[in-house]
Amino acid sequence: MTTIEPDLENWIRHIEDGVREELINTCSDDASHDIGHLQRVSALSRQFAKAESGNELVVYAAGMLHDIVNLPKNHPEAYKSSLLASIRAKELLTKWNFPENLIANICHAVHAHSFSANIETETIEAKCLQDADRMEALGAFGLIRTFYVSGKLGTQLMDEKDPIGLSRKLDDKTFALDHFEQKLFTLQRTMKTKEGTKTARSLSLFLEEFRNGIVEDLLKGNRSSGRFVIADTYYLAGQKKLSLFHLEDPFAEKDRNVDPEQYGLDGLLGSCDGYIRLFKDQLRFELNGYALTK
Ligand SMILES: [Fe+2]
Repeated sequence: MTTIEPDLENWIRHIEDGVREELINTCSDDASHDIGHLQRVSALSRQFAKAESGNELVVYAAGMLHDIVNLPKNHPEAYKSSLLASIRAKELLTKWNFPENLIANICHAVHAHSFSANIETETIEAKCLQDADRMEALGAFGLIRTFYVSGKLGTQLMDEKDPIGLSRKLDDKTFALDHFEQKLFTLQRTMKTKEGTKTARSLSLFLEEFRNGIVEDLLKGNRSSGRFVIADTYYLAGQKKLSLFHLEDPFAEKDRNVDPEQYGLDGLLGSCDGYIRLFKDQLRFELNGYALTK
């Protein structure tokens, strides 16, 4: 078979247009897996692939397609999402006349990225995608996505009588805070790239400090703490199906109106609370690509 020399920049434009069209056609309204998530995971996968000598086009395409099918977390077949996404990815790539010799690697990466699919990553590209996607479950992103999904599914923020599950079984399908211990804290040990491993450690620490802090606030009866405000803001954003933040101008630094009825983060922009400021700095660091390139 003749190997087609792919033109990376052309393909990036082509894939982005195709994915946008697919999201419109499927009426996707899940802000925790929106085009912004796909773009950030793709960009980070490319950074990891550069460092690990992986194929940048493969990880870019896999990043843009990895959540192209994403069943809600409470769907009985949610564990099949990444398999279904890999099947749809193959259909789309074929329709776009994508270089055929790269498609199997992309589909494997898409299938293997998911925590619940629980299959081994067999290529460096699959490892890069999996690490990049897991980074968005950690740090400030991890916080906002956890509470957003909780609001969307109508689960509870936490078990106020036993918030860390000292005398009960953890259950993240009922309590959002249980998700930290049950899944998020375990992710740093699953990282497979050098850059991913290094950064995931600090992001996990950020989450741990948040979890411990909000439990302390709860015990002190401080329900108006910065941590509670963040959790409540994103819980409400999930209930109302708002966007997590304005994709082009998250911190409203250019010329736009702040609109908390449309963007979750906008509800926090005016706050002078010390913890909320720290959270916003952390989110900025993550939005800037974790400053992996110095
Ligand atoms: Fe994802």
